[in-house]
Amino acid sequence: MSSTINTMLVEKRVIHPAPEFAANARISSMDQYRQLCEEADKDPDGFWRRLAESNIEWRKPFTKVLDESRAPFYTWFEDGELNVSENCLDVHLRNGNGDKVAIIFEADDGTVEKATYRQLHARVCRIANGIRALGYGKGDRAILYMPMSIEAIAIMQACARLGLTHSVVFGGFSARSLHQRIVDVGAKLVLTADAQRRGGREIPLKAAVDEALSYEGADVVEKVVVYERTGAEIQWVEGRDIRLSEVEAGQPEECDPVAVEAEHPLFVLYTSGSTGKPKGVQHSSAGYLLWAKTTAQWVFDAKPEDVFWCTADIGWVTGHSYITYGAMAAGLTQIVFEGVPTYPNAGRFWEMIQRHRVTIFYTAPTAIRSLIKASEQNPEHHPRNYDLSSLRLLGSVGEPINPEAWMWYYENVGGSRCPIVDTWWQTETGAHILTPLPGATPLKPGSCTLPLPGIDAAVVDEAGNELPPGAGGLLVIRRPWPSMIRAVWGDEQRFRTGYYPEELGGMYMAGDNAQRDEDGYFWILGRTDDVLSVSGHRLGGTEIESALVAHELVAEAAVVGRPDATTGEAIVAFIMLKHPAAGDAEAQKIADTLRNWVASQVGPIAKPKEIRFGNNLPKTRSGKIMRRLLRLVAEGKEINQDTSTLENPDVLKQFTGVY
Ligand code: PRX
Repeated sequence: MSSTINTMLVEKRVIHPAPEFAANARISSMDQYRQLCEEADKDPDGFWRRLAESNIEWRKPFTKVLDESRAPFYTWFEDGELNVSENCLDVHLRNGNGDKVAIIFEADDGTVEKATYRQLHARVCRIANGIRALGYGKGDRAILYMPMSIEAIAIMQACARLGLTHSVVFGGFSARSLHQRIVDVGAKLVLTADAQRRGGREIPLKAAVDEALSYEGADVVEKVVVYERTGAEIQWVEGRDIRLSEVEAGQPEECDPVAVEAEHPLFVLYTSGSTGKPKGVQHSSAGYLLWAKTTAQWVFDAKPEDVFWCTADIGWVTGHSYITYGAMAAGLTQIVFEGVPTYPNAGRFWEMIQRHRVTIFYTAPTAIRSLIKASEQNPEHHPRNYDLSSLRLLGSVGEPINPEAWMWYYENVGGSRCPIVDTWWQTETGAHILTPLPGATPLKPGSCTLPLPGIDAAVVDEAGNELPPGAGGLLVIRRPWPSMIRAVWGDEQRFRTGYYPEELGGMYMAGDNAQRDEDGYFWILGRTDDVLSVSGHRLGGTEIESALVAHELVAEAAVVGRPDATTGEAIVAFIMLKHPAAGDAEAQKIADTLRNWVASQVGPIAKPKEIRFGNNLPKTRSGKIMRRLLRLVAEGKEINQDTSTLENPDVLKQFTGVY
């Protein structure tokens, strides 16, 4: 964290929007930005009402904007009714844009398939009719465990059309994690594929579903719909499993959208928190859609002729808000990519931007860092070798982007011509919160700049007092906003204590540390809890610890993150075995076993990069594991601070071997 603070204090570069960009932008000056902020400040109800009336097509108009009577369980536009899928598809058909390309899908092997809004609408309707014929609809939950595909997006939209709440599980999670989510959300229906293709490899999906459904409590699931993506051989459970092609077969290409209440849960998305169990972040229909669409328009300065590419997976919130919902509601043409940035080589992203004439490119710092490294190793795949002149705007999301990576992105990908929107937000916020507006905001490399109009963000101390510029503290949002998390699925208490702690007197606590500078710009310093960000994936340290401790060889475990030049953070596990390893070779073998175990329990993305063994863990006299000190050990730093509060200071000396 200290390195972030240092870079920040020396970072003085300011990049102003180019006049040509500003002239055509939706929000084209700081004056216009300030005016919107003022409008929202003076009359929040009026501001949100105006946006909700102009950006959403309602089935039944709302009369009330915000209801705070059950705070922190806020509701928005409560008596209004709408259908989210209608707002993403039908509206474009009605406006004469049915033949506009909605999705350009590029497969792992480079095959390209396109779908217009009209074709996608027909597909969504057929799937929705098929799901309805199976007996599912509003009030039910469906789990998706799908590869990046037109089908996955169509299924999410089909669920929205029926008012069926979906919960997408990222394909990199294990059968155990999938099982946990299926049970927690109470899904009657699972939609998956035989396998997925990534980086030239075939990765089974249906097999993980079969395994997940063999565990206790998963008998809530009645049907498994299988999209045949690769033709891989799979097991088949008669009566339970059904092919997507059969679900769709013979279904009409029209399906009346079900009008749902504004607060109806559109989806639940699981994310890591500070305790072991992932939490199901519940989102609304109207408020969520409103901010996903509005931010897609403002922050990406969306224009009808744009070709938008968000490289996120639909298993994460970015894929929900800016692929499935935001981009579609905004009527954009977008790229959907099945593969990985490094296959068949590290020029894949640049080649795709060139091929499809992408104008807006939105990716994660971890991808940028890995491509910087790859293009240094192999200059052939450096972005300068591709025609990236179609680009006009770049975006970054998911973790802090260090100023050096920012500048590389700006110069080499954006040709020093494209603004970069560094968007800070979270699964819980639903959509962008702190971000530049590309035609207005002067940019500072490494800062996510300023709150969007309508967002009242601040940095406060632990008692909720606002801190002066330069002081690090808790990032909070002081007023509710429409796309905010509505609940932690099935756990009211966790919602209150996790996001609205009493000490902060009604402010939303993001769980990030941040600091503002003299211009009011926000600089994110990292998480306040044990949440790790590995290659932009949000993982719970406690969750990985719980998995390790559940292994028969392990007595105790502590997991921390240490900075990594490519993945942002790397997972380091400190482990006390029940019986110490007899030598190096055995320690290595055990480390490998434990890594695979974590992969099977949480997912391959959660495998520790380093494992260190000791015959105890550093603890306070009250028995608390001192993760702060372990972080220093993981970073290879000298421990010259006072360790007198430790029960067992010598323990720190033993973790020298790295496996
Ligand atoms: O720590 C912040 C970091 O990612 C966390 C949210 O993770 P998740 O819910 O998985 O959503 C990621 C995609 C929106 C935040 O608490 N984070 C996200 N965006 C940024 C960021 N940190 C710094 N700068 C960002 N632009």
